[in-house]
Amino acid sequence: MALYPTIIVLFGGAGDLVWRKLIPSLFDLHREGRMPERFAVLAVDRLPFREEDLRGRFLGGVQQFARNRKVKKTEWNAFARHVTYLQGDFQDPATYANLASKCAQVDSAWRLKAARIFHLATPPAMVQVIPKLLADAGLNRNRARDRIVVEKPIGHDLDSAREMNRTLRQSFDESQIFRIDHYLGKETVQNILAFRFANPLFEPIWNRRYVDYVTITVAEEVGVGHRGNYYEHAGALRDMVQNHLMQLLCLVAMEPMVSFDADEIRNKKVDVLHALRPISRAEIEQYAVRGQYGQGKLHGKPVREYRQEDDVSPHSRTETFAALKLFVDNWRWQGVPFYLRTGKRLSRQLSEVAIQFRTVPHQSFPAESTRDWHPSRLILSIQPEEGIVMSFQAKYPGPKMLLRPVEMRFTYQEGFAIPTPDAYETLLWDVMNNDPTLFMRADQIEAAWQVLMPVLERWAESNPRGFPNYAAGTCGPKAADELLAREGHSWRPVA
Ligand code: BG6
Repeated sequence: MALYPTIIVLFGGAGDLVWRKLIPSLFDLHREGRMPERFAVLAVDRLPFREEDLRGRFLGGVQQFARNRKVKKTEWNAFARHVTYLQGDFQDPATYANLASKCAQVDSAWRLKAARIFHLATPPAMVQVIPKLLADAGLNRNRARDRIVVEKPIGHDLDSAREMNRTLRQSFDESQIFRIDHYLGKETVQNILAFRFANPLFEPIWNRRYVDYVTITVAEEVGVGHRGNYYEHAGALRDMVQNHLMQLLCLVAMEPMVSFDADEIRNKKVDVLHALRPISRAEIEQYAVRGQYGQGKLHGKPVREYRQEDDVSPHSRTETFAALKLFVDNWRWQGVPFYLRTGKRLSRQLSEVAIQFRTVPHQSFPAESTRDWHPSRLILSIQPEEGIVMSFQAKYPGPKMLLRPVEMRFTYQEGFAIPTPDAYETLLWDVMNNDPTLFMRADQIEAAWQVLMPVLERWAESNPRGFPNYAAGTCGPKAADELLAREGHSWRPVA
């Protein structure tokens, strides 16, 4: 399907996100012939830039971050001629008057009214400013063609998220607002829906009768890098759990959708958030664990502790690790714990969902057969491995009936043999297509904050015990293992 002619306006055009993610993804889409036949990319920022310098900077980004980093000159030139720059202060109405006249020039050259996408790759505070000034300049009026894209974080807590959503909706209709959670653009995350609802095989056992517990892990090897300033005020719960992990939980726990309509899918997901059992502040310790990395080793090299990272307080109480035990109070999941964990500077990068099935109702094999017994488990691997692994019992070859766990494995690499697109490619293409399925709706974001508020409040008012409480390069604090061990459950090892 040919995409409608589109002007993509990148606020924060000289910034890191545009350079590292947005331009390389747009370039890849163009290289694959998936951009609209007529499109313009207009980067807006405060700094003075000559257009050729900006294009040079963007080329650098593409050479580092595009899917195929070998960029032919012809490919780059064919893309770069669509890119222009507008210098302007985001707070100054004159910037928006200039922007409106640039858009009008494009419209008259193309002899139509182009779709306009305003992507805010800016600090979150700009959400209070840019939408209103766009509206004042009349750049919000066409509900079908004017769209605004905002990046996380959407708020710092429930109140500020509500406020941010209110501000956005004063200038744009909800149908024009695209809130990015880049996890939803990942192929393996989208595949959770395909796996669950395109295969009748698993649906009958996807419930409390057969599932013992579920673990969702997003482990990172990286630390906070140069983002200490932001991270000090965020922490793992806000930075990762409120958005990425909650979205994964929704996809795993949601009811089947009736159609592939964007709102139908988003309704089913928000139902999960509404069904999450509230955590009472008095019981936080039984449901939530926080951690902060101390010095340690990764790949044999020493790594400094969080409190010594740039722009981080030497007495910081910010958590770089969070684990939660949640329950989904509905018929399907009553009593099944969903354990979520994420952390920085863990022993390796690993994102996965593990569905741990119950054991057999009656053990008919002799005790010696089942010494190495593990109930069946299904792993949905999100990254860096991309695929699905089913582990189950098989007879070990030989005269005796001995049972051992074995694995059945699907990998994207072997199954499809084509490179998976970056999440931003998918998401930007969806915005151009006006398809909000993979974007977060205001009510989802607020429902996710609501669940986390008691934990955030409790953690803010009490001093964390023994920080730093895990060494860089390990699997996180011991308390996170104990959270599961109390129920006889365990995480899959990260290493
Ligand atoms: C971002 C967080 O949303 O996701 C980062 O702000 C985190 O702290 C990143 O590192 C992880 O994304 P990915 O795609 O590398 O798993």
